[in-house]
Amino acid sequence: MTQPTEVTRAAVLGAGTIGASWAAWFLARGMMVTVWDPRPEAEAYVRRYVAEAWPAMQRIGMVPGAAPDTWRFCATPEDAVAEAQFVQENAPERLEVKRELYGRLDRAMPAGTILASSTSGLLMSEMQAGLASAARFAVGHPFNPPHLIPLVEVVGGRDTSAETVQWCLDFYRHIGKKAIHIRKEARGHLANRLQAALWREAVSAVASGLASVEDVDTAVSAGPGLRWAAMGPHMTFHLGGGEGGMPHMLHQFKPAFEAWWATMTTPELSEETCRQLIEGVQAEAHGRSMQELVRDRDAVLLPLLELKAKQDAGA
Ligand SMILES: NC(=O)c1ccc[n+]([C@@H]2O[C@H](COP(=O)([O-])OP(=O)(O)OC[C@H]3O[C@@H](n4cnc5c(N)ncnc54)[C@H](O)[C@@H]3O)[C@@H](O)[C@H]2O)c1
Repeated sequence: MTQPTEVTRAAVLGAGTIGASWAAWFLARGMMVTVWDPRPEAEAYVRRYVAEAWPAMQRIGMVPGAAPDTWRFCATPEDAVAEAQFVQENAPERLEVKRELYGRLDRAMPAGTILASSTSGLLMSEMQAGLASAARFAVGHPFNPPHLIPLVEVVGGRDTSAETVQWCLDFYRHIGKKAIHIRKEARGHLANRLQAALWREAVSAVASGLASVEDVDTAVSAGPGLRWAAMGPHMTFHLGGGEGGMPHMLHQFKPAFEAWWATMTTPELSEETCRQLIEGVQAEAHGRSMQELVRDRDAVLLPLLELKAKQDAGA
């Protein structure tokens, strides 16, 4: 097994939204990357993606000597992993697709190579069942786009070794990611469950007529969302307790939160609610194209990431 700090060859399997972005990040970290995707057009997609992502990575985390062209597109997954020390799998989010691919990799992956799956919510225990090399398969779940967002959730399955989990945590941290260990398997891991909890209430607010789609989004992005980029919900509430911190916050607001939770319900994503959401974001976009929306997001995200990197460096 290569030391996590010495990986120079990574494979990316599945090069859509997430795979192309991972490829860009691995390149920015100076690695040689092999890419496989059954769609032949994926090669051009990755080339374009890397070129477009490169200026952002020059700002937030490129290592000296990194180059956007130290990668090649492979005809088979076996070829892509043949010399890889680490594999990031980004195939479509379907159990049977991942299992079929893993069956091929089980025979093809060099002994000692670690595979991490980007799966947003499938359980590794189900994906790795029956593999001879199951101990070296874990989840390494990123956030879109992985070349910008630092978080990676590492989760082991039933047959994943503790060594593999630790290896993945060390590897992702070494390549500049904020890796956290999710200690048990759960559908959606942790961060997607947190997103789903907030979005459940955001959808309910629209469906029940409490606020418009745009106002719900403003409630988050101009309110608590600003604080959440600095610190998470627990620490934010520790500060909410003033000098008394979390003990005072709990004493004061426990009854209120319990009462609010009791009124919360799960909305149905009915046709009418979906229509409201679609029309709502279209109105909120004020005619901006998807590309313009990404540009507007990144105009805030990049300086924020630079700021957080500086803060980490000083800590
Ligand atoms: N999109 C997100 O926001 C996001 C975020 C985090 C994680 N993920 C996870 O990343 C994975 C990929 O999602 P995506 O959004 O990039 O999907 P996508 O549809 O953009 O890309 C999937 C790619 O996989 C390719 N593919 C098809 N069959 C394949 C196979 N058998 N083996 C390998 N590749 C195959 C497709 O040609 C396509 O290029 C999923 O597991 C998803 O849950 C997605």
